[in-house]
Amino acid sequence: MSEDHIKQILLAGLNAPSALNSQPWHFTVVTNKKILNQINEAMIAARTKGGSGGQGAPNSPPPKKLGLADAPVAIFVYGTNNLFTDSFDCGLATEAMSIAALSLGYGTKILASPTIVLNGEKKAYFDQLLQVPEGYSNVAVLIIGRNDESVDATAGASTRKPMEEKVRFIK
Ligand SMILES: Cc1cc2nc3c(=O)[nH]c(=O)nc-3n(C[C@H](O)[C@H](O)[C@H](O)COP(=O)(O)O)c2cc1C
Repeated sequence: MSEDHIKQILLAGLNAPSALNSQPWHFTVVTNKKILNQINEAMIAARTKGGSGGQGAPNSPPPKKLGLADAPVAIFVYGTNNLFTDSFDCGLATEAMSIAALSLGYGTKILASPTIVLNGEKKAYFDQLLQVPEGYSNVAVLIIGRNDESVDATAGASTRKPMEEKVRFIK
Protein backbone atom coordinates (compact mmCIF):
# COMPACT_ATOMS: atom_id res chain seq x y z
CA MET A 1 0.00 0.00 0.00
CA SER A 2 1.42 3.40 -0.96
CA GLU A 3 2.27 6.03 1.63
CA ASP A 4 -0.07 8.40 -0.20
CA HIS A 5 -3.00 6.02 0.32
CA ILE A 6 -2.11 5.56 3.99
CA LYS A 7 -2.06 9.34 4.44
CA GLN A 8 -5.41 9.75 2.67
CA ILE A 9 -6.89 7.17 5.03
CA LEU A 10 -5.38 8.91 8.07
CA LEU A 11 -6.76 12.29 6.93
CA ALA A 12 -10.26 10.81 6.98
CA GLY A 13 -9.70 9.89 10.63
CA LEU A 14 -8.09 13.20 11.55
CA ASN A 15 -11.05 15.03 9.99
CA ALA A 16 -13.72 12.99 11.77
CA PRO A 17 -16.12 14.95 13.96
CA SER A 18 -15.71 14.86 17.74
CA ALA A 19 -17.57 16.32 20.71
CA LEU A 20 -16.36 19.89 21.34
CA ASN A 21 -13.85 19.21 18.55
CA SER A 22 -11.75 17.53 21.23
CA GLN A 23 -10.11 15.13 18.74
CA PRO A 24 -9.42 12.65 21.53
CA TRP A 25 -7.48 10.22 19.35
CA HIS A 26 -3.94 9.19 18.52
CA PHE A 27 -3.11 6.89 15.61
CA THR A 28 -0.05 4.66 15.28
CA VAL A 29 0.39 3.15 11.83
CA VAL A 30 2.28 -0.13 11.80
CA THR A 31 3.52 -1.79 8.62
CA ASN A 32 6.27 -3.66 10.48
CA LYS A 33 5.44 -7.39 10.31
CA LYS A 34 7.58 -8.25 13.33
CA ILE A 35 5.66 -5.85 15.57
CA LEU A 36 2.29 -7.08 14.31
CA ASN A 37 3.39 -10.68 14.88
CA GLN A 38 4.63 -9.82 18.36
CA ILE A 39 1.30 -8.29 19.36
CA ASN A 40 -0.60 -11.17 17.80
CA GLU A 41 1.55 -13.66 19.74
CA ALA A 42 0.81 -11.77 22.97
CA MET A 43 -2.90 -11.99 22.17
CA ILE A 44 -2.66 -15.73 21.54
CA ALA A 45 -0.68 -16.23 24.77
CA ALA A 46 -3.27 -14.29 26.77
CA ARG A 47 -5.99 -16.37 25.19
CA THR A 48 -4.37 -19.75 25.81
CA LYS A 49 -3.59 -18.75 29.43
CA GLY A 50 -7.32 -19.16 29.96
CA GLY A 51 -7.89 -15.45 30.08
CA SER A 52 -8.78 -13.62 26.94
CA GLY A 53 -7.14 -11.48 24.33
CA GLY A 54 -6.99 -13.59 21.21
CA GLN A 55 -8.99 -12.66 18.17
CA GLY A 56 -12.63 -12.92 19.10
CA ALA A 57 -14.34 -13.61 22.39
CA PRO A 58 -12.52 -15.21 25.35
CA ASN A 59 -11.89 -18.94 24.79
CA SER A 60 -13.61 -18.77 21.43
CA PRO A 61 -12.37 -20.97 18.56
CA PRO A 62 -9.84 -19.33 16.21
CA PRO A 63 -11.54 -16.92 13.78
CA LYS A 64 -11.98 -18.04 10.18
CA LYS A 65 -11.03 -14.61 8.86
CA LEU A 66 -7.59 -13.11 8.77
CA GLY A 67 -6.34 -11.03 11.67
CA LEU A 68 -3.62 -8.71 12.86
CA ALA A 69 -0.69 -10.89 11.84
CA ASP A 70 -1.87 -11.04 8.22
CA ALA A 71 -2.45 -7.31 7.76
CA PRO A 72 -0.11 -5.28 5.52
CA VAL A 73 -1.16 -2.16 7.46
CA ALA A 74 -2.66 -1.78 10.92
CA ILE A 75 -3.76 1.52 12.41
CA PHE A 76 -3.77 1.38 16.20
CA VAL A 77 -6.44 3.78 17.42
CA TYR A 78 -5.80 5.20 20.87
CA GLY A 79 -8.06 7.53 22.81
CA THR A 80 -8.23 9.59 25.97
CA ASN A 81 -10.96 9.12 28.50
CA ASN A 82 -11.69 12.73 29.45
CA LEU A 83 -15.19 13.16 28.06
CA PHE A 84 -17.85 10.43 28.04
CA THR A 85 -17.91 10.88 24.26
CA ASP A 86 -14.21 10.09 23.70
CA SER A 87 -14.54 6.44 22.74
CA PHE A 88 -17.53 7.23 20.52
CA ASP A 89 -15.41 9.87 18.73
CA CYS A 90 -12.60 7.36 18.29
CA GLY A 91 -15.14 4.96 16.81
CA LEU A 92 -16.23 7.61 14.32
CA ALA A 93 -12.61 8.24 13.33
CA THR A 94 -12.02 4.50 12.94
CA GLU A 95 -15.08 4.09 10.74
CA ALA A 96 -14.12 7.17 8.69
CA MET A 97 -10.70 5.59 8.02
CA SER A 98 -12.34 2.28 7.20
CA ILE A 99 -14.65 3.91 4.65
CA ALA A 100 -11.75 5.86 3.15
CA ALA A 101 -9.78 2.62 2.77
CA LEU A 102 -12.78 0.85 1.22
CA SER A 103 -13.24 3.71 -1.24
CA LEU A 104 -9.60 3.29 -2.27
CA GLY A 105 -10.33 -0.38 -2.98
CA TYR A 106 -8.95 -2.03 0.16
CA GLY A 107 -10.61 -4.38 2.59
CA THR A 108 -10.75 -3.48 6.27
CA LYS A 109 -11.59 -4.97 9.61
CA ILE A 110 -11.98 -3.33 13.00
CA LEU A 111 -10.56 -5.33 15.89
CA ALA A 112 -11.26 -4.60 19.54
CA SER A 113 -9.69 -7.78 20.90
CA PRO A 114 -6.10 -6.39 20.88
CA THR A 115 -7.15 -3.83 23.52
CA ILE A 116 -7.02 -6.57 26.14
CA VAL A 117 -3.25 -7.04 25.86
CA LEU A 118 -2.42 -3.49 24.76
CA ASN A 119 -4.15 -2.02 27.83
CA GLY A 120 -3.22 -4.93 30.12
CA GLU A 121 -0.33 -5.52 32.49
CA LYS A 122 2.25 -4.81 29.75
CA LYS A 123 0.61 -1.51 28.73
CA ALA A 124 3.77 0.54 29.39
CA TYR A 125 5.80 -1.79 27.16
CA PHE A 126 3.30 -1.68 24.29
CA ASP A 127 2.83 2.09 24.68
CA GLN A 128 6.55 2.56 24.18
CA LEU A 129 6.67 0.10 21.28
CA LEU A 130 3.79 1.91 19.54
CA GLN A 131 4.93 5.43 20.55
CA VAL A 132 1.70 6.22 22.34
CA PRO A 133 1.52 9.56 24.18
CA GLU A 134 0.76 9.73 27.93
CA GLY A 135 -2.86 9.39 28.93
CA TYR A 136 -4.10 7.30 26.01
CA SER A 137 -5.50 3.76 25.92
CA ASN A 138 -6.12 1.51 22.98
CA VAL A 139 -9.66 1.66 21.60
CA ALA A 140 -9.38 -0.50 18.48
CA VAL A 141 -7.12 -1.58 15.66
CA LEU A 142 -8.10 -1.06 12.03
CA ILE A 143 -6.47 -3.62 9.77
CA ILE A 144 -6.32 -2.82 6.08
CA GLY A 145 -5.53 -5.18 3.23
CA ARG A 146 -6.89 -6.71 0.11
CA ASN A 147 -10.60 -6.47 -0.53
CA ASP A 148 -11.55 -10.09 -0.89
CA GLU A 149 -13.41 -12.70 1.08
CA SER A 150 -10.46 -13.47 3.32
CA VAL A 151 -10.19 -9.98 4.76
CA ASP A 152 -13.78 -8.95 5.30
CA ALA A 153 -15.08 -5.62 3.99
CA THR A 154 -17.72 -5.64 1.31
CA ALA A 155 -16.88 -8.84 -0.55
CA GLY A 156 -16.70 -11.13 2.47
CA ALA A 157 -19.15 -9.47 4.82
CA SER A 158 -21.40 -11.67 6.94
CA THR A 159 -25.12 -11.30 6.45
CA ARG A 160 -26.85 -8.48 8.33
CA LYS A 161 -30.28 -8.40 9.92
CA PRO A 162 -33.02 -7.01 7.64
CA MET A 163 -34.22 -3.42 7.77
CA GLU A 164 -37.65 -4.54 9.02
CA GLU A 165 -36.02 -5.83 12.21
CA LYS A 166 -33.65 -2.94 12.89
CA VAL A 167 -35.48 0.18 11.74
CA ARG A 168 -38.84 1.75 12.56
CA PHE A 169 -40.42 4.43 10.35
CA ILE A 170 -42.81 6.78 12.18
CA LYS A 171 -44.77 8.94 9.76
C1 LIG B 1 -15.92 -2.29 17.70
C2 LIG B 1 -15.67 -3.53 16.90
C3 LIG B 1 -14.81 -4.48 17.41
C4 LIG B 1 -14.53 -5.65 16.69
N1 LIG B 1 -13.63 -6.52 17.19
C5 LIG B 1 -13.32 -7.62 16.48
C6 LIG B 1 -12.34 -8.51 16.95
O1 LIG B 1 -11.72 -8.30 17.98
N2 LIG B 1 -12.06 -9.61 16.22
C7 LIG B 1 -12.71 -9.86 15.05
O2 LIG B 1 -12.42 -10.88 14.41
N3 LIG B 1 -13.62 -9.01 14.55
C8 LIG B 1 -13.94 -7.90 15.25
N4 LIG B 1 -14.85 -7.01 14.75
C9 LIG B 1 -15.45 -7.29 13.44
C10 LIG B 1 -16.87 -7.75 13.59
O3 LIG B 1 -16.91 -8.95 14.28
C11 LIG B 1 -17.49 -7.88 12.19
O4 LIG B 1 -17.36 -6.67 11.54
C12 LIG B 1 -18.94 -8.28 12.27
O5 LIG B 1 -19.05 -9.54 12.82
C13 LIG B 1 -19.59 -8.27 10.93
O6 LIG B 1 -19.11 -9.34 10.15
P1 LIG B 1 -18.34 -9.12 8.77
O7 LIG B 1 -17.01 -8.58 9.16
O8 LIG B 1 -18.22 -10.48 8.16
O9 LIG B 1 -19.12 -8.17 7.95
C14 LIG B 1 -15.14 -5.86 15.44
C15 LIG B 1 -16.03 -4.89 14.93
C16 LIG B 1 -16.27 -3.74 15.64
C17 LIG B 1 -17.18 -2.69 15.04
